[in-house]
Amino acid sequence: MNFLIKIFKATILILIISSLLVLVIFYLGSNYNTISLKADKIIYGEEYWNINTDSLAEVLVSKMDLNEKIDQMYGEKMINSIPKFFGSYLFKNRFAHIYAGKNERLNIPPWVLSDGPRGARVLDKNINGVTTFPVAMARAASWNIDLENQIHQVIAKEMRANKTNYAATPCINLLRHPGWGRAQETYGEDPWLLGELGLAAVKGIQSHNVMACPKHFALNSLENSRWVLNVEVDERTLREVYLPHFKKVIKEGKPASIMSAYNKVNGEYCGSNKMLITNILRDDWGFEGFISTDWMYGLYDGLDGIKAGLNVEMPWQDEYSYKLLEDGIVQGEIKESDIDKLVLNTLKTRLKYAFSFDSIDYNENIILNNEHIRLARHAAEESMVLLKNEDILPFKKINNIKVAVIGKIANLDNTGDLGSSNSSPPYVITPYEGIKSYNEKLNNKVIYDDASDINKAVDIAKNSDQVVLVVGYTYKDEGEYILTKGEMLKSAEAKELVGVKGIGGDRINLSLRDEEENLINKISKVNKNLVVVYVGGSAIDMRKWEDNVPSIIFSWYSGMEGGNALARILYGDVNPSGKLPFTIAENPDDYPYFNPYTDTITYGYYHGYSLFQKFKKEIAYPFGYGLSYSEFEYENFKMNDFKKEDSVLKFNFDLINKSNVSGNEIAQLYVGFENSKIERPLKLLRGFKKIQLKPGEKKTISLQLNKSDLSYYNTEKKKWENEDISYNFYVGGSSQIKDLLKINRNIY
Ligand code: BGC
Repeated sequence: MNFLIKIFKATILILIISSLLVLVIFYLGSNYNTISLKADKIIYGEEYWNINTDSLAEVLVSKMDLNEKIDQMYGEKMINSIPKFFGSYLFKNRFAHIYAGKNERLNIPPWVLSDGPRGARVLDKNINGVTTFPVAMARAASWNIDLENQIHQVIAKEMRANKTNYAATPCINLLRHPGWGRAQETYGEDPWLLGELGLAAVKGIQSHNVMACPKHFALNSLENSRWVLNVEVDERTLREVYLPHFKKVIKEGKPASIMSAYNKVNGEYCGSNKMLITNILRDDWGFEGFISTDWMYGLYDGLDGIKAGLNVEMPWQDEYSYKLLEDGIVQGEIKESDIDKLVLNTLKTRLKYAFSFDSIDYNENIILNNEHIRLARHAAEESMVLLKNEDILPFKKINNIKVAVIGKIANLDNTGDLGSSNSSPPYVITPYEGIKSYNEKLNNKVIYDDASDINKAVDIAKNSDQVVLVVGYTYKDEGEYILTKGEMLKSAEAKELVGVKGIGGDRINLSLRDEEENLINKISKVNKNLVVVYVGGSAIDMRKWEDNVPSIIFSWYSGMEGGNALARILYGDVNPSGKLPFTIAENPDDYPYFNPYTDTITYGYYHGYSLFQKFKKEIAYPFGYGLSYSEFEYENFKMNDFKKEDSVLKFNFDLINKSNVSGNEIAQLYVGFENSKIERPLKLLRGFKKIQLKPGEKKTISLQLNKSDLSYYNTEKKKWENEDISYNFYVGGSSQIKDLLKINRNIY
């Protein structure tokens, strides 16, 4: 009996202790306080307020002891951060505010990260939703730089209203293979397009005094083994293919920060890769901001980090521990002045933002205002790509008909990955909801079927006048490689995580699910008034069904307003104008070698259209391709007269809308190197413009190009050089030769 009482008492005690623990974690998890992120004049006092921020940073560093300096070099202390982090996640399904670099003694305000490739991620107390845009790959398909800038202004404003001031975005890693799990977070396969859109994003973010952080530097184009992968790359490939977009964004956008990648490059982890972060980023490109690691497993040796020039370890203090760095100084491995230098990079940048003047009050009324929501819909409309259309679209606006919307994901909140790029919209208009509410005005009956019973779905399609079949993916099929909670607890080390079954991650198979392919083929036999709408973040293999369907739209993960945008495109209120930011191969085996479970891979000089064109591989749809309800014609492509010493080349051409519908065309400028004496691609994108034309309208368009953008990297001389050859210049509506006008010139 006594024994039973003891067991009973012990159980009660365990229950009480664990409830208390849960309460503590819950409390910490909900501890969103209102720490100011801006420098406060009163606290600082006139003495500091009026000196420039660079000098102030120097004064402050000179007043810090070694530990205070080290405190500037990581996110938060594990003891504060871990309960808050996991508490927020488990109980609130939220990402916590991590206050990095705060120093109360010296009145230094912290910086607080929010991810945000499609909308602010970290939410403040009482805020439950933010404007959620289509994913970055969708926006890349819009080829609209102004739009990308506006979107990032909105994201930045909403971040500020959520009490964060550091945006871990844009992701500008190159899409080397469409199976990459995080393809949706980036802007496609082409360095030029990546650079232009990344730059627009950085400028948009920073215009609201939020620090931008392009990521992941560098060569992070494979997901599942990102923590252990070593990417081998030769110097020309690195400089000409994988880095030009980073270079443009850094040099022209001057982002406050940059995030290193998890993987190794040529044998060295990116977080401590001196060649990348000091030789290239700082010395060659003049980067003045601070470099932070990707989160957890971003740095493996603190002393290597210091030697390589890494400023901040995120999100916790681990390798940049007091002991390790103090011992390193005592043993002469590193010097305290190395630390001073790294802290100064960070503080100079941070203070600029902490002291910057805000022209608006970033309060919660900013979030989700009508203008932001309209922009979310507009972004979705601009990004959808009409891939195939045999006189089906736009659907006729007739009354009293039956419209079928079919598919497992046709009525799903499906705005993309739920990893770090997640954003929380207050609602999502699904394809079915958008089509339904559009058809209400026409008095049409819209029937939704999830196709769980394929015969029933086929029957509904057969008996309908218009059929929209929505196929594709969700966060479970592609995205950041996320482990389930149990697996995360079991495996402590990065290398143990690779190969464990997680959610999302890379796609090895580029086809749709068998049942979806089957459904498409069956429905296409019974109703030809059919459009297949694909939802996903990258290319798919369509060989098994493409010829059978009359019409295909790539609608991507289209954000909170995606369903409305889709309906307006289907019925012609909006003329589609998106174009593919990647090549779709005819045969997926023709893409570069890709293996999500390898620890070493070589990235070669060719990928995307440069590979398909050079090696004459068949493609299904070219880079830069997309249809419209209008018909455009290009004429009179000319190069302006120039002197040999001119550094800029100017081109003109006429663009005509031959149809009776207004539309937007994305004109692309390519440069061809067929006559090159060295190994080079056949052609590369070097400019583009989105142009609006009324029915029958003709416009003369000009584009220009810097001669330096024709150069290649001479690895022997370690510099960029131009070849004295005749170049081909092309302009047109896609990267395929039949869509392009060509001129050939020697420019020297
Ligand atoms: C991702 C980063 C992200 C960070 C913080 C990492 O797992 O790779 O892109 O910014 O988490 O959420």
